Amino acid sequence: MSLLEINGLTQRFGGLQALSNFSFRLEERELVGLIGPNGAGKTTVFNIVSGFYKPTEGDIVFCGKRVNGLKPHVVTAMGMARTFQNIRLWNDMTVLDNIRLARYAWLDYSFWSAVLRTKKFRQSEKAIEKRSREVLEIMDLTEYAAELPKNLPYGLQRRVELARALAGNPKLLLLDEPAAGLNSADVEGLIRHIRWIYDEFKISIWMIEHQMKVVMSLCQRLAVIDFGCAIAEGTPEQIRQDPDVIKAYLGDGAL
Ligand SMILES: Nc1ncnc2c1ncn2[C@@H]1O[C@H](COP(=O)(O)OP(=O)(O)OP(=O)(O)O)[C@@H](O)[C@H]1O
Ligand SMILES: [Mg+2]
Repeated sequence: MSLLEINGLTQRFGGLQALSNFSFRLEERELVGLIGPNGAGKTTVFNIVSGFYKPTEGDIVFCGKRVNGLKPHVVTAMGMARTFQNIRLWNDMTVLDNIRLARYAWLDYSFWSAVLRTKKFRQSEKAIEKRSREVLEIMDLTEYAAELPKNLPYGLQRRVELARALAGNPKLLLLDEPAAGLNSADVEGLIRHIRWIYDEFKISIWMIEHQMKVVMSLCQRLAVIDFGCAIAEGTPEQIRQDPDVIKAYLGDGAL
């Protein structure tokens, strides 16, 4: 059984066909990429898989369960976490609270136990605090725990978003353009962090990214889409030499 199976995904927005019969499989412990030109449908794939959009057609199976149409928080609780192309952090909460709140979404106590502050709730709260601080430490963010994300440089905000996605111990991490807007030093740091996360957490990672340096150095396999259709799949080396990919996306001498 694959960790994630996408079969025949189609997405229409009114008259626009954003995705056409897209299929893909992702196994446990894989680090793979999704690339293609602007507007190709990459984010749409992630939005459907993570429950933000309901597909017009097609099936998504995650950990053996059909997830199409499930709400994002349900999919998250099943072990799928994501980041966004445009950073979405709670800007009026500290970095630590951003991580803590994400962690709460994973817990199985009820609203009433939180209100009544039961023993179970108090124990969970302590465990959450501990785990959140561990995640901050792993991502070299401890010194920013009390800061508001909006006061941090962009590269650090991206890292906080990554830390928040990790807070719930996901099995699959979806990263939508994690290197967007980063300077070259930050890109190097990001590559190191992603590799580290992949090695330490023993999870699968699927990333959308335009910076070829990032995908080519991290990904074991790449899928390429153009105008909503899959046009190629293979190792970075195969993709780099694929005539259809060069024509649609990479261009002559792009690499
Ligand atoms: N909610 C929506 N309503 C209408 N059209 C949408 C919606 N979401 C995406 N689209 C359209 O679907 C197409 C695919 O968009 P998508 O955001 O998936 O592209 P992308 O490959 O992620 O591009 P980029 O590299 O620029 O982020 C685009 O034409 C976009 O305008
Ligand atoms: Mg996108």
